[in-house]
Amino acid sequence: MKLAKRITAIVAIALFAATSVMAAQGGNPKKGKYLFKKHCKRCHVAGAEGGELTPLSKTMSQWDRFFKRDKHKAKPEIWGKFKEKDLKDINQFLYDHAADSDQPETCG
Ligand code: HEC
Repeated sequence: MKLAKRITAIVAIALFAATSVMAAQGGNPKKGKYLFKKHCKRCHVAGAEGGELTPLSKTMSQWDRFFKRDKHKAKPEIWGKFKEKDLKDINQFLYDHAADSDQPETCG
């Protein structure tokens, strides 16, 4: 029983470490902000086809999930136009200023 508990704890720690590594990091948020304004905002302001979208629209984990799994499935062709690195930068910017981040930000 004791051993089982210990194993559970180790697995929990390992999973936690793995997910923190997977979280957005390594992108350039300044470049991401520029790219978001330039490429995403044209469809993502109030009244435009994609609807208003700011970093605050999602939480940090929601942004990561969006970039990893969803990949803009509402309009998948959009994603094909971006380089992997640019998406990483945009992901970083949105993540850094997400609703539950240290520096939530509406501009973008
Ligand atoms: C050509 C227009 C267009 C561009 C450019 C565009 N989008 Fe979208 N986006 C859409 C449309 C249309 C939807 C679907 C909106 C809906 O379902 O109401 C959408 C949906 C989304 C959603 C889902 C919204 C939600 O509530 O979960 C996110 C997040 C998103 N886009 C992010 C981005 C990001 C980030 C970029 C830039 C890398 C981008 N979009 C560029 C048109 C666009």
